[in-house]
Amino acid sequence: MIEVIKKNSKYILWLILFLPTFGIMAEALTGYPWSSHTYEEIIETTGEASSFLLLFTLYISPVIFILKLSVIWSLVKNLKILQWVNGNKRSFGVFTFYYAMLHVAAYLLYKNPSKFFSDATTMVYFSGWIAFLILVPLFLTSTDRAVSMLQGRKWKALHRFVYIAAVALALHIALADGADGLVQFLPLLLLEIYRYSQYRKKRVHS
Ligand code: HEM
Repeated sequence: MIEVIKKNSKYILWLILFLPTFGIMAEALTGYPWSSHTYEEIIETTGEASSFLLLFTLYISPVIFILKLSVIWSLVKNLKILQWVNGNKRSFGVFTFYYAMLHVAAYLLYKNPSKFFSDATTMVYFSGWIAFLILVPLFLTSTDRAVSMLQGRKWKALHRFVYIAAVALALHIALADGADGLVQFLPLLLLEIYRYSQYRKKRVHS
């Protein structure tokens, strides 16, 4: 049984990440035609699911980097869960895009199309669109085939755009939901600054 779970752990993760869809669909279908309350609930759930997964994905590498520098690394380096989470980053990324797509779909279905353009000229929507449009090519190149076609370097360079998406998302959340939402981005920013400074130091000394 354990072996079966281990062998299929990627698919079990996909299933778990897909589960909130049932709640979202139930709300969307039972609440149809949507009241403004239903729309807000769907926008909140899908937006929070997507931003949670994006942040979770972005925290993985810097947290492992810090652990490697710490005294507890010898204790945790063989932890299977750490290797498993790190090895499944692409799955978390794919579901980030999936929930962003539901979020955008809810907006497009509810709002009057005549509003789309004027909305997009306001910073809250503009930053949302920037974050979303950056995620599109990242999602499209998340298959094994795309990874091997683009080779390691090109793929990594393209996927660094995720940091621009994160900045746009931080702005989108601050404008949509208040500056409190930025709290979750702050440790990530500090970790990345530290990681970059260590990387620079290493380059200077080598
Ligand atoms: C990667 C893309 C995006 C992510 C991860 C995202 C995430 C979020 C989050 C976390 C919120 C706050 C929800 C809350 O109130 O708790 C939000 C609000 C919102 N987002 Fe997005 N968003 C994205 C792109 C977009 C796009 C492209 C649009 C539409 C053009 C959009 C429309 C909205 C709207 C209408 C709100 C609610 C604003 C309000 O309450 O005044 N988002 N989004």
